[in-house]
Amino acid sequence: MKRPISDRLLCCASLVPPGARVADVGCDHGYLGIWLLEQGRASYVAASDLREKPLEKARENSRLFGTADRMDFYVADGLAAIGPEQVDTIVCAGMGGDCVAHILEEAPWVRDPRYTLILQPQTSGNDLRRYLGEAGFAIEQEQLVQDGGFLYFTLVARYGGGRPLTPGEQYLSPQLLACGSPLLPAYFDRVLGALERTVAGIRRGACPNDAKLTYYSCALQEVQEMRRYYDSTADT
Ligand SMILES: C[S@@+](CC[C@H](N)C(=O)[O-])C[C@H]1O[C@@H](n2cnc3c(N)ncnc32)[C@H](O)[C@@H]1O
Repeated sequence: MKRPISDRLLCCASLVPPGARVADVGCDHGYLGIWLLEQGRASYVAASDLREKPLEKARENSRLFGTADRMDFYVADGLAAIGPEQVDTIVCAGMGGDCVAHILEEAPWVRDPRYTLILQPQTSGNDLRRYLGEAGFAIEQEQLVQDGGFLYFTLVARYGGGRPLTPGEQYLSPQLLACGSPLLPAYFDRVLGALERTVAGIRRGACPNDAKLTYYSCALQEVQEMRRYYDSTADT
């Protein structure tokens, strides 16, 4: 039977270390964990979701695909029901970047280099990168994937050696810039378009907020510089 795992989730799966014990936070249908176990990529999956209904579906799917013996299921906020010894890899996909940051902040035990974090926010990627840098997590790599006409980034992070990122780096990290993906020009276009609209919107406002204007203008300038550098090196 064919399970509907998206290219977006396959990107997350490709970053899971072989044999990992995985927490799939916000698992919904549970297909990521099921696929990882079927492929032999993971040895165990703890699947959690805030809502009972999706989790019941995930349980049912795991029985259908024969992976239920290597999975546990929790109705919980983030990692609240999962213990530090239970997993070594944490996947958070399909939630907002601020929500992912909240989930990590509420589980202080993830501040340990033994955990591999695989994070694929749907929105507010800049907020997530800002949080990671300020909390001391280092981004090890980023990948881009296109799915259903949308572009997503997935990052791998680990505690230790992180540093606060500049506004521009929060939108386009050095690791994403170095990923070598043919999707990078389209990603640049998306980020630059969004920042240009934001800066113009703040400038038009009756009472422009100085701190916001400084942050977004700085991010825009930095990403424009990155684009110029990228274009100049891509030509050579
Ligand atoms: C859009 S779905 C993404 C499902 C899957 N991870 C994916 O990427 O395709 C988001 C899921 O996250 C769950 N969710 C949202 N906030 C959560 C939280 N704080 N803790 C656990 N699950 C959460 C929602 O109930 C929903 O099932």
